[in-house]
Amino acid sequence: MCGIIGVVSHRPVGGDPATNSGVGQILIDGLKRLEYRGYDSAGIVLADKGRFTSKKATGKLSALSQAVKGNMPVGNIGLGHTRWATHGAPSCDNAHPHFACDNSIALVHNGVIENYQTIKTKLAKEGHKFRSETDTEIIVHLIEKYHKHHPPLESVRRAIEHLEGSFAIGVIFAKKPNILIAARLNSPMIIGLGDKETFLASDIPAILPYTKKVIYLAEEQIAEIDASNSAHRVNIINFKGRKQPCQVSTVAWDAAGAEKEGYPHFMLKEIFEQPAVVRTTSRYYLDTKTNTVKFPALTGMAKQLSAVNRIVLVACGTAYHASLVGKYAMEELCRLPVEVAYASEFRYALPVLDKRTLVIAISQSGETADTLAAIRAAKAKKALTLAICNVLGSSITRDAMVTLYTFAGPEVSVASTKAYTTQITAVILLSAYLAKLRRTLTPKDEKSLVREMLALPDKIEKVLTLNDMIADYADKYKDVTNFMYIARRYNLPNAFEGALKMKEISYTHAEGYGAGEMEHGPLALVDDTFPTVAIAVKSNVYDKVISNIQMVKARKGIVIAIATEGDKFIRTLADGVIEVPETPEILSPILTVIPLQLLAYHTAVKKGRDVDQPRNLAKSVTVE
Ligand code: M6R
Repeated sequence: MCGIIGVVSHRPVGGDPATNSGVGQILIDGLKRLEYRGYDSAGIVLADKGRFTSKKATGKLSALSQAVKGNMPVGNIGLGHTRWATHGAPSCDNAHPHFACDNSIALVHNGVIENYQTIKTKLAKEGHKFRSETDTEIIVHLIEKYHKHHPPLESVRRAIEHLEGSFAIGVIFAKKPNILIAARLNSPMIIGLGDKETFLASDIPAILPYTKKVIYLAEEQIAEIDASNSAHRVNIINFKGRKQPCQVSTVAWDAAGAEKEGYPHFMLKEIFEQPAVVRTTSRYYLDTKTNTVKFPALTGMAKQLSAVNRIVLVACGTAYHASLVGKYAMEELCRLPVEVAYASEFRYALPVLDKRTLVIAISQSGETADTLAAIRAAKAKKALTLAICNVLGSSITRDAMVTLYTFAGPEVSVASTKAYTTQITAVILLSAYLAKLRRTLTPKDEKSLVREMLALPDKIEKVLTLNDMIADYADKYKDVTNFMYIARRYNLPNAFEGALKMKEISYTHAEGYGAGEMEHGPLALVDDTFPTVAIAVKSNVYDKVISNIQMVKARKGIVIAIATEGDKFIRTLADGVIEVPETPEILSPILTVIPLQLLAYHTAVKKGRDVDQPRNLAKSVTVE
């Protein structure tokens, strides 16, 4: 849950002062793009003339940027880290980098070392002095121990043989300014190949301004970057010391995708990107000449997929809600039993799986620890595994048998928005493909679904024009302490998602509930101060939701309805109506979630919340 960056460069030490382009500034700028991964403290270290200079600050990255102003450490090699605390409170002592006793080695770490206490006790008996409460610090002391007799790469390899848990680490040695080392186990790490400079980072946006050429470090690999001459050499070994091949990929994202581009927050920018990313994602899986779905990545698996007799979707958070939409779509189109499991539960629940079960993991980052563990558990039981994921080369995509990418581009805001609508897009089109294989979808129905899908981006544009009106609703209700979100069938996951967005960024308590469950308990909460957001678009459960709204109104509750354009009746009932264009119910969650995202966004802004980096959270949950 932390962000790491490392650089070794042939730029002039200290960079060009006029353009502030030295390694120190690369580290600070990279951390800024990784800040979504953790933001309670940060630090950098650079090596020059055999010595380290480091700066650390608690709080957001702006504190560190301030601390280095006019006082930037210099060097041709360095590491940076932005922290989301697990062991030890956010403080300068606990902030990374951490150092060996003699300050000859510096290290940054993302992950959790589960057996750190045992190792720490042992190292302390051997005379090592610890300066922090972190689990991380033991790694650098272990490396120091081995470095007495071994070169850098072998010392790192021997040190990590002791570690249990998860880690991505970056290591530098004060007296070896051309050697940058990275290693990973269950935490992401990429290597970026620039022009006479090489990078390591937790995620692609950190290095996008400098290069699009990357190596995705695989599980249990260690990379040594040797920058002794301008053609940097990348040497990769596994934890056993055996040489590994290294494959260079080119990233399709551009640097602008990871910038705010004039929007006040990434979240708002990402909400407004939804017409484009839903269009790109759907078109990738559609043949627009024949109006049919196409999944070339699945062709080789068609026989196994036709034999599937059960589907299990696993995910966390917002991706879990996308999975719930997937369940409705798969059951309706494929006529197969479908379950949805929280990945955090699935991995410990002894799930019954076999080779006729298809396990689908949905994840924006592809790095969520529980979702990754769930897909591995499914693989171990010989189930077919498929990932729906946004990040190329991420851990989940490596473990799943096949990956269907969403094309949302970099999602920086902690609150997931465009990833969600592209996940729903992909899972619905996948349902149609599986249904075709099973002959449960007629060509006529397929064409009609495809046509409606292609019309969706323009309809999302239309919903986005309601932004100001939704901001007014947010203004009106910003001081309430509770929100209820209700819906049925395909839109029930959006009731959960709307409540999650509201809690996550505005810190207002909110609950999502099946509309038909209100009278089984939650109706007791309703009074004339209590707002309920009801999703009541035209569908075969419309009348049922209307009855549920009437129950709330009969208790004097406030109702904001998300309704289909032109629904005059609902205006006679609800206190406020937000209209979305008509679309088949199966696709409606892609439209009805937009007002919910905007309502949460504007409420958070009006309450003065830190929209993109809400308290206590981080974007990728790479620890359990
Ligand atoms: O990267 P993933 O999609 O696997 O992440 C799953 C959740 O952590 C994520 O959706 C989280 O719930 C969001 N912050 C919600 O906005």
